[in-house]
Amino acid sequence: MLETVKYLIGSAGPSGYGSKSTAEQVTDDGVDLQSCTAIITGATSGIGAETARVLAKRGARLVIPARNLKAANDMKNRIITDFGDAQIIILHLDLSSLKSVRRFVSDFEALNLPLNILINNAGKFSYDHGLSEDGIEMTFATNYLGHFLLTKLLLKKMIATAKTSGVEGRIVNVSSGIHTWFSGDLIRSLGQLTRDKSLYDATRAYAISKLANVLHTKELACRLQMMEANVTVNCVHPGIVRTRLTRDREGFITDLVFFLTSKLLKTIPQAAATTCYVATHPKLKNVSGKYFADCNEASNSKIGCNLKEAARLWSFSEILVSTDFKSVFAPCNSKA
Ligand SMILES: NC(=O)c1ccc[n+]([C@@H]2O[C@H](COP(=O)([O-])OP(=O)(O)OC[C@H]3O[C@@H](n4cnc5c(N)ncnc54)[C@H](OP(=O)(O)O)[C@@H]3O)[C@@H](O)[C@H]2O)c1
Repeated sequence: MLETVKYLIGSAGPSGYGSKSTAEQVTDDGVDLQSCTAIITGATSGIGAETARVLAKRGARLVIPARNLKAANDMKNRIITDFGDAQIIILHLDLSSLKSVRRFVSDFEALNLPLNILINNAGKFSYDHGLSEDGIEMTFATNYLGHFLLTKLLLKKMIATAKTSGVEGRIVNVSSGIHTWFSGDLIRSLGQLTRDKSLYDATRAYAISKLANVLHTKELACRLQMMEANVTVNCVHPGIVRTRLTRDREGFITDLVFFLTSKLLKTIPQAAATTCYVATHPKLKNVSGKYFADCNEASNSKIGCNLKEAARLWSFSEILVSTDFKSVFAPCNSKA
């Protein structure tokens, strides 16, 4: 109850920011990204577009991967209209395709740029069952697995950049509070959702993918610490905001739901605040493996803190990105 009141009035937490802080406000306090290069996925609309705008305003060079190059160029033109000297490079990437992720990384490497910040923001809420070209449930493939491979392939560059520049590298995984709605065996449920269309439940699929973002953060933070890399990884819940995430269900009912919940909704600049805070704020130096909401560290679900589950998902993901999925999720007779 107290938490809801704090949220509604936007009272500041220990960070000095709260639910009503905007991305510009949280980066106003001495954040200078003049020498930084950042990759932000899903920057063609919504939270990602505002994150890109604010990081460009603070001087970061942006590399924007996008599957819709026209939308990405429109976004680039809008930013350049506001900040004439912004440096924005657009490259093609469809996160649901592992081949496309590999191609993007090789295109990025050809640019020979450093990499300080990686924001894994792109996401989809898929009302209908679908499989990626690699044969895996589409929401998981887009929201988690593509980002898992992207991060894995960019990590060496981030570690090297941090070493040569002496500036801490930061990875931000954009998850959702909905990750707490799933409890159970993630891998087994993913197998069921992938194999059996009749079992598909869009909210469950979304929650699984967002829990995977949280577990990815946990395991990667442990690995970075073991490697003594000057790179941190954290995940965020941006808050609830009306964006194109619900694009498949636009209409009267959606309008009504958003109208009825309007007091709980954030604006897009507020929703981008936690990502920008975690990606840039000097107060978070050496903070890794944590979950943030409303620009403050927050607690996540029991399973989201389970290091064994995090390690298990990591091993499974390594198999998914390196072998033939169809054999992993082959139809089986058992009711697994
Ligand atoms: N909105 C909320 O209330 C809310 C709440 C909690 C968490 N989140 C999370 O916040 C993040 C941003 O969402 P948003 O609300 O800003 O939604 P949005 O406006 O729909 O933005 C999603 C972005 O992801 C990109 N994307 C989707 N599938 C892709 C793919 N296969 N390859 C490359 N890019 C892809 C979209 O690009 P296209 O232009 O190509 O479609 C778009 O740029 C997501 O991870 C979402 O799960 C949102």
